[in-house]
Parts: sequence; C-alpha cells; structure tokens
Amino acid sequence: MTDLLGGAGGSAAAALPPVRAAEGLRLGWIRRLWPVLGPQRPVVVASFLVGVVALLINVAVPTIVGVTIDDAIASTDARLEPFLVVLVVLALARAVLSVVYRYGLYRSAYRVEVDVRGLLFRNLLDQSFSFYDRVQTGQLVSRAQSDVRSVQLYLAVAPLILTALLSFVLAVVVMLATSVALTIAAVVALPGVYVVGVALRNRLFPLSWIIQGRQAEVTSVVEESIAGVRVVQAFGAEPRQVGALATAARRLRWANVEQGSVRARLAPLLENLPRLGSVLVLLLGGWLVIEGRLEIGAIVAFNSYIVLLQVPFRFLGFFLILGQRARASAERIFEVLDEVPTVADPPHPVTARTHLGRLEVDDVWFGYGDGPDLLRGVSLVVEPGETVAVVGPSGSGKSTLARLLCRFYDPRSGSVRLDGVDLRQLAVADIRRAVAVVPDEPYLFSATLGENLAFGRGDLLDLLEEGTTPDEVREVAEVVDAAGFIEATESGYDTPVGERGATLSGGQRQRLALGRALLVEPEVLVLDDATSAIDVHVEARIHEALTRVRAGRTTILVAHRLSTINLATRVVLLDDGVVAATGTHVELLERSPRYREVLATTLVDDEEPAP
Ligand SMILES: Nc1ncnc2c1ncn2[C@@H]1O[C@H](COP(=O)(O)OP(=O)(O)OP(=O)(O)O)[C@@H](O)[C@H]1O
Ligand SMILES: [Mg+2]
Repeated sequence: MTDLLGGAGGSAAAALPPVRAAEGLRLGWIRRLWPVLGPQRPVVVASFLVGVVALLINVAVPTIVGVTIDDAIASTDARLEPFLVVLVVLALARAVLSVVYRYGLYRSAYRVEVDVRGLLFRNLLDQSFSFYDRVQTGQLVSRAQSDVRSVQLYLAVAPLILTALLSFVLAVVVMLATSVALTIAAVVALPGVYVVGVALRNRLFPLSWIIQGRQAEVTSVVEESIAGVRVVQAFGAEPRQVGALATAARRLRWANVEQGSVRARLAPLLENLPRLGSVLVLLLGGWLVIEGRLEIGAIVAFNSYIVLLQVPFRFLGFFLILGQRARASAERIFEVLDEVPTVADPPHPVTARTHLGRLEVDDVWFGYGDGPDLLRGVSLVVEPGETVAVVGPSGSGKSTLARLLCRFYDPRSGSVRLDGVDLRQLAVADIRRAVAVVPDEPYLFSATLGENLAFGRGDLLDLLEEGTTPDEVREVAEVVDAAGFIEATESGYDTPVGERGATLSGGQRQRLALGRALLVEPEVLVLDDATSAIDVHVEARIHEALTRVRAGRTTILVAHRLSTINLATRVVLLDDGVVAATGTHVELLERSPRYREVLATTLVDDEEPAP
C-alpha cells in the first residue's frame, strides 16, 4: 500500500525503482491482467493474427523485389508488369491489414481501460472507512488515472513490438538463406543500436519518474489552491501560492529539459547506426556481385531488410520502459483490487429480524488502526422509540461510537447488535438502511437541492430527473425546516448546490443532510452534532417535527446544547472511552459531579438556563 500513500511529489526520486533489464521482462502481472481483459481477448488475439499476416507480407516484399530485379537483368525480354501487380496488391493488402490490426488493438486497449477503471472505482467505493483513514485520497485518484492509462498504453503497444520482433526473426532467416556473409554485415551494427537504446532508456527512465512526480506536484499546488481559494484569499496568501507554483514548475522544467538533452544526444546516434549496416552491405555485397557470387537483387533486398531489422532494436528500449511502468502501474492497481474491505457482508447474512430499532452496544472496545483503545468497554442499550443523548468532552469518542453503530468500523472486541442481531451478521446495505448517521459536517454533492435530499433514494432521484419534485421530498424539506429557504431560491428544488455545498450556509447544509437521512426512513437515527450550526429556535422546531414523524423510532443525539439534551429521554455520559454515568438529565445533574463539570465546560451557550 505504501506506493498509494507515498507522495508522488518531492519523494519521486526517493521512490525510484531500480532499473534492471530483467524487470521489464518479468511478465507475471500480464498473467494476472489476462482475466481482466475478459471479453476483449478474442479481439486481441484476432488482431494479433492479422498483424502476423501483415508482417509475413512485410518480410516477403524485399525478396520479391530482389527476384524481380534479378529476372529483369538476366533476360532482356522479362516482363515487369506481373511483378508490379503482385507488389501493388501486396502493398494494398498490407495497408488494409495494418489498419485492421492497429484498430483492433487500440479498440480493445481502450475498452480494457474503461473496464479496469470501472473495476477500480467499484472497488474503491467498497473500501471501508479504515482504508480511507490510511490512504491519501488525492494521490489515490490521480494515481489511479495515470496507472490505468499506462497499462492501456502498454496493451496497445506491446503486440506491435512483438510483431516487430517476429518480423526480425523471419527476416534474418530469409537473409541467412540468401547469404550468410551479407547477413552478418547487415546485423553487425545492431548490437550497437541495442546498446545505445538501453543507454537511452537507463537515462530516460528515472527522468520519466521524476517528471511524473513533478507533474503531480504542479497539479496538486494548483488543485489545492483552487479548492482552498477562500482560505488563500482570506489570509492574503496569493503571492505565496503563486511562488509555490513557480517553484514546482521550475522543478518540472528542469526534468523536462534534462530529458530533452539526453534525447538530443543519443537519438541521432540511434538513428544513424543502422546506416553503418547499409554501408557494409553495399561494400561486401558489391564485391560479392563483382566476383559473381551474388545477384544484384540480393543487395537491394538486404537494404530493405536492414530497415526492417532495426525497428525492434530501436524500440526494445522504449518497450522495456513501457513494460516496467505498466507493471508498476498494474501492481498498484492490483493492490487496490486485492484490498479486501474490512467491513463486508457475511457469507450468509441474517435477513429475519424484528425491525424495531433496538440497539445494543455490548462491552465494545475500539481504536483506529493500530492506535490505542478509544472506547474501553462501552455498553449501552437503546430501546425502540427511545431518544438518548450522548454527552461528553471533546475527543471522548462520541463520533467514534456513532460510527460503530452503523458499522463504518468493527469493534476490536464486544459487539453492536440491532434487534438482537450482531451487525457483522447482517448485510451491510441492510444496516445502512436501518441506521442513519448524520455527521456535523455533512458532504453535499454538486447537484440540485432536490437531488441532494433524495440521494439515498434511487426512486425519488428518477422522479427528479423526469422533472417532477416528489411530495416526499417536499414533506421532508418541511420537517427539517428547509422548505422555506429552498422555495426562496430562484429554481427551488432544481437549484444547483455549489461544490460541496459552497453556496449554502452551514445550517442549511445540515438541514439538507438531515432531510437526506430522514428520506431513507431509518429505524435508528444517529445525529452526531448534526444540528450544531442550526440556531436554537429552528432546531427546536425541527425536533418538534421530528418527534412527530419519528414517533416510536429510535434516535441517538450527540449533543453539545442543553436544548438538544432536553429532547432526550435519557442521557449517557461518555468520558474517556467509558460510559461514566447514565440517567435523565435531571438525575445526572443531581448525582454526577463529572456530568456537571462536563456540561460546564462543553456546553454551547443557549438561552435556557439549566433547570
Ligand atoms: N479516523 C480516525 N483515525 C484515527 N483517529 C481518529 C479518527 N477519528 C477520530 N480519531 C481520534 O479519536 C478520538 C475520539 O474522537 P471522536 O471524534 O470520537 O471524539 P468526539 O467525542 O466526537 O469529539 P467532538 O466532541 O470534538 O466531536 C480523538 O482523539 C480523535 O483524534
Ligand atoms: Mg464528534
């Protein structure tokens, strides 16, 4: 997982993998990718076969040309037309086959890209909260994009290189059959091409990593500054951000220029080395012809073969780079695909339960990751229809407890039960329908107000898409006291919400989030400080409406306000990971000095004095 976590930015050079020639050839990952290719396999194989036919033509043509020339020289009345017709037909056939071949490869490579991206996205959405605690999401997203692309590129290019190698072998066979000496002359420069190719790759490969990392740096400076533009402006930090971008851009420029300079130095060598072969072929071939041991046609044919021969040598280096990069990318993709969500459906979920909304927390111990225990033996029973307030100092584990109630995490020991069934025995979707947690900082999507409310209900979303606002959406907006501000907007329920709800006030966002949870009609509603930004009078109205619509249903309130606490039939004092006291507000005020202390320090002032 470290690669996903590791910054692609400054640490790119540190994360540099060692460049070893054998690495690009370790093809285990291709075997793993094979099933992912799935329905594209026949197309890939068929395209490859078409490519092989094209290459056979490629190899045959120089020999045909050579034979034609020799015939023309040998007999003065030889007819050229049939040969020309054959050559034209072959050229046409080759052109058509190459088009089909390339089209087939690129088409399947892009389809694989779509499939892999879909698979990856699905897998990311299935990951548990603990995964996202560990992994940097920004990196994850950008890496996923570039990794999928580099695998796609390799899939498209690898067969091309493979056919080039095949044509190399065939050409050498044909050439050896004509003249061993001339073949040696033709290939003598090729190891040089390979050596220069490898040298080029060894210099370019580390640079390409550095460039990739520095590109990510530039992107992240821009993304973060734009996403946080309000904070940047509030602190007058614009010049500093511009400076940060300039620095990142300079670092990227250095790497790019360096890459260009390496290319400029080595590429001409790579291009001209094969010409050495041509010179040798002309020299040796000319001598052999004069001696009468070779036909002129062979020299012409060999000159064409030299061009054919150098292709795989030139691109082998590039191919190995692509292979290395694609392998690293595929491994990162598989790391995500192999990541088993810690919170997942049991093999045989319990489907029969009473649907009363009785919640039992039984001796639960919990901490995040490898961290210390934050909940240390918490036990709590919430009866159906009860409204319980959870009170405690900041950091005492109230939100943590809320997250366990709908199984965003599993306890280290102990259990959470819904209507007597351990959450781990229920289907996750069933739990999420039954228990809704509303956080204090809700996330809204850049969709319309109506769509944000209906997010949990596919059926209502469909109606909204058709252009009707369902009554249920209107009713819930009424309950959470959002109908007023929604209808005051220009397009009502169709008004778009800015990114993450930027166009709304904190209280408005919270009311939408509350409505969104209510529309799912959960059996248990957990409000984790979910009304903290709503003013006290509005909150009272909302709770009044809530008691009406949720009569008989279980509600758990994490509260910082007396007015909220007063809505609860019972109060639980969570202190330092344990339930320190439980009872009604009045009882606890009398009985528990710690409760009075906690209230005194954590209570948000509202107008009501303590009873
Ligand atoms: N995802 C997480 N990974 C690691 N530690 C976490 C995570 N979320 C919370 N914590 C830690 O767990 C402890 C309890 O946090 P929690 O959010 O449950 O407190 P809280 O009682 O809700 O506080 P507040 O009243 O401020 O909301 C804190 O020390 C916090 O730093
Ligand atoms: Mg909290």
